[in-house]
Amino acid sequence: MAHPSDKKPSKSGPRKPVRAARKAVGKKTDAAQRPTAKKSKAKIPPKQTDRAIAGTALGAVPPKRTLSKSLKADADQLAKRSLHTKVKTARGRKLSSTLWLSRQLNDPYVARAKAEGYRSRAAYKFLEIDEKYKLLKKGARVVDLGAAPGGWSQVAAKKVGAKGKVIGIDYLEMPAIENVQLLQMDFNDEAAPEALKAALNGPADLVMSDMAAPTTGHKQTDHMSIIALCESGLDFAEQVLVPGGCFVAKTFQGGAANDLLARLKKLFKKVNHFKPKSSRADSAEMYVVAIGFRGENR
Ligand SMILES: C[S@@+](CC[C@H](N)C(=O)[O-])C[C@H]1O[C@@H](n2cnc3c(N)ncnc32)[C@H](O)[C@@H]1O
Repeated sequence: MAHPSDKKPSKSGPRKPVRAARKAVGKKTDAAQRPTAKKSKAKIPPKQTDRAIAGTALGAVPPKRTLSKSLKADADQLAKRSLHTKVKTARGRKLSSTLWLSRQLNDPYVARAKAEGYRSRAAYKFLEIDEKYKLLKKGARVVDLGAAPGGWSQVAAKKVGAKGKVIGIDYLEMPAIENVQLLQMDFNDEAAPEALKAALNGPADLVMSDMAAPTTGHKQTDHMSIIALCESGLDFAEQVLVPGGCFVAKTFQGGAANDLLARLKKLFKKVNHFKPKSSRADSAEMYVVAIGFRGENR
């Protein structure tokens, strides 16, 4: 097939040799790189363009395309803007964190907790538990395991009043709560039970545990970890509860594991499982509420 440049021979006679063609392209390349390239490109006569094509076909480096200064500035700004948007949206957050944040912002219990002065939406779970099982009495002595940020302790302190006692423990730091004694330590630390007993200075009417380790996403691992926390809470409850006392602990759907359930039934007169309305429907959490500690071994 004939090359386009073959169709219209140059006025100056036959086609130039390869070297001349390359030279011509070189000239055009220089011109294209000058700032006025855009204007001069529009004026390039077809003959010159043909030469450039011929030169390219012969292996010459095609003229380097450059953005005009203003276009480049716009492109840079666009690039920066799109980077900025990404950073702003993600801000180093994982998708799960972004979803959590959006859920928090749209959660009526979060809004209610803020309006009513509770430190966490979890306060409503305990309010529901107490409304159903009437666990808290004026002057009662309560231990709150995994207390931070403090919603359950706030509810308990209000209900037991100044004559009651509430001791909270969490490895997270939390600001003081009126009428609540807070210990910042890991409940699994071997010194924790003694520290709690010293703060309690007597028996307890209620031991409650909302303890939860950060979830791993692996269902069985998370289930086992919550059951282990529930068991160690029960070990402690067994040591400090008054006869007739109560134990509340977070477990997972399906309730307490069989061994744990058998133990609870042996230790308490009544064992119930309860899922408060304020507990998110998509969460597998539920609570075991054990009432009437027999206290036979003490
Ligand atoms: C769901 S939050 C408790 C919310 C609390 N009931 C409230 O109303 O604000 C679970 C808490 O358990 C605590 N926790 C988990 N394992 C613990 C442990 N071994 N010792 C002490 N606290 C623990 C966590 O630090 C976390 O603050």
